[in-house]
Formats: sequence, C-alpha cells, structure tokens
Amino acid sequence: MTDTSLRSFAQHVEAVRPRIDAALDHHSRMGKGCPAPLAEAMRYALLGPGKRLRPLLVLLAAEACDDDSETAMPAACAVEMVHAYSLIHDDLPAMDDDDLRRGRPTCHKVFGEAMAILAGDALFALAFETLTRLDVSSQTVAACCGALAKAAGACQLAGGQADDIAGLATGLDVAPLEAIHQRKTGAMIEVSLKLGGLIAGADQTQLAALAEYGRSVGLAFQIVDDLLDVRGDEAAVGKRVGKDSDYGKLTFPGILGIDESTRRAEALVDAGCEAIRRLSTPTDHLAMLARYVLERNR
Ligand code: IPE
Ligand code: IPE
Ligand code: MG
Ligand code: MG
Ligand code: MG
Repeated sequence: MTDTSLRSFAQHVEAVRPRIDAALDHHSRMGKGCPAPLAEAMRYALLGPGKRLRPLLVLLAAEACDDDSETAMPAACAVEMVHAYSLIHDDLPAMDDDDLRRGRPTCHKVFGEAMAILAGDALFALAFETLTRLDVSSQTVAACCGALAKAAGACQLAGGQADDIAGLATGLDVAPLEAIHQRKTGAMIEVSLKLGGLIAGADQTQLAALAEYGRSVGLAFQIVDDLLDVRGDEAAVGKRVGKDSDYGKLTFPGILGIDESTRRAEALVDAGCEAIRRLSTPTDHLAMLARYVLERNR
C-alpha cells in the first residue's frame, strides 16, 4: 500500500463522511406526530460524532461491485440507525451502565431512561422505513430488509448482547467469547457489506467474498474495541475505558493478553483482505478500511 493510495483513500473518506451525515440528517427529520423530545433524543444519538464505519462499508461494498454509491445511501443510513439504537440500549443502566458515548453524555443521561429506550425503538423502526426508500427493485428492498432484520435479531446482535449481559463467556476458552463478538458486533458489519453488494447486484461469488471479509473484519473490530478498553485514551475513544474489567466482562485481552489479541486481529484483517481479492474489481478502499480498523485509536 503506497502513501499515495493511502492519501487518496483518506480523501475519499473525508468526501464521503459529510454525504453520509447529510443523508442521516435528511432521513431522520421526523414529521408531525413525533413528540419533540423523542425526535431530539433520536437525532442526538444518530447524528453524534461517530466514525460512520458501517455506512462507509455499505458504500464501499457497492463501489467495489461497480455501483454508484449514492444508490446505496439509504441502506448506509439504515445500518447506522440500527447501530445507534444498539448503542443507546447498550449504554442503559440495565446493560453496560455507561455515561459517556462519542465524547458526550449518553442518550439516557440527557433525555432520561424512558425516552432513550423509546428513541432506540423508533430508530430501529426508522431503519426499515429508510430501506424502503431505496431506488432499487422491490425484490432487492425485501432482501435488504430481511438481511438487516436477521443481523439485528435474536440470533445475531440481540442474541450476542443477551449472552454478553448474561456473562456466558467464562474461563479461558476463546470460542464462546468469539461467538458473542461475532453476533453482537460482527453481524452488523457483515450485513453492511451484504447490503452494499445486494444493491449493486453482486453475484453469489462476490457476495461470498464480501461476507468473508465482513466476518473477519467484524470480529477484528470487536477485538480492537476490547483492546481500546484496556489501553485506549478516554478523550480519543470518547467513552469510558477500563470498564470491561471493572464489570468482570470477558474480553480478548482478558483471555489472550494484549499481544496475542493484537496478532489475532491482524490475522483476521489479513484474511479479510485476502477474501476480497476474489472480487476482480478494485478493492483498495475496502482493504484500507480494514487496516484502519486495526490502527484506530477511537
Ligand atoms: C461501538 O461501535 C460499539 C461496538 C460495536 C464496539 P463504534 O466504535 O463503531 O462506534 P461509533 O459509531 O464510532 O461511535
Ligand atoms: C457492544 O459492545 C456492541 C453493541 C451491540 C452496541 P460494547 O459494549 O463493548 O460496546 P462499547 O464499548 O460500549 O461501545
Ligand atoms: Mg456491551
Ligand atoms: Mg458497552
Ligand atoms: Mg467495548
């Protein structure tokens, strides 16, 4: 990877992020009938300064399959809406009980628990409404809705969160923890790639390559999140650090140590980059995003 290609990737991301933010703003303007505090809580959580990794993955996957990324924008917004809902609920006192998110007080600290729960519910519904605004065939819209529902559902995000909260990963065996990470975090990353591919009309071989990349990078992403909780800087990360061990959560560095966890994340990113070489279109941007997942400090 040359300095020039890294620079052009950074420029591409800097140009795309404001487009994502503008689309999120557009799709979250609530109409008549939505109480003002509810709309405010939804937009506070959705439009806050996140990295927009999942929307970027949707758009980069569509581009890697030779599609105009603007077509995929409603899907990019939809995954960010489900993500924002999951963060609101993850931070609630009944779950991780966090007071800092994206460098600001968590949604329930600002709007109260009841309004935060409802903002999460409404963002979840808004995600599917937004998918119906895609300018693609109704068959593709249905496939996108099905894929996103599955990734957010009982066997994936919600299920992974349930096992995380129940403390089902114990001891020094990495497999149960990997299963939690794959579902609570990996599934939403994997589906981001899938939506981009579906909208771009990717064939089965391309979808399989995107899925493999998504699975590897998704798990690497949560391993790095665990690492940032141990060695990250609170101001940069924008959330409290050291909380996983305070709460007795089992994490990759907790089981394998920092060095081995870092090596695992690197190996996963290598495997993800290998998988997308099969796409036969330029995939430099997806490869660079995977590297960013390793090197990020927030
Ligand atoms: C945080 O996700 C929650 C996890 C799945 C680890 P991000 O690190 O992508 O959070 P934002 O969107 O940038 O705030
Ligand atoms: C949560 O994982 C993943 C979600 C589904 C939101 P974490 O609980 O580790 O995420 P952070 O560290 O609070 O962002
Ligand atoms: Mg959590
Ligand atoms: Mg948390
Ligand atoms: Mg975490």
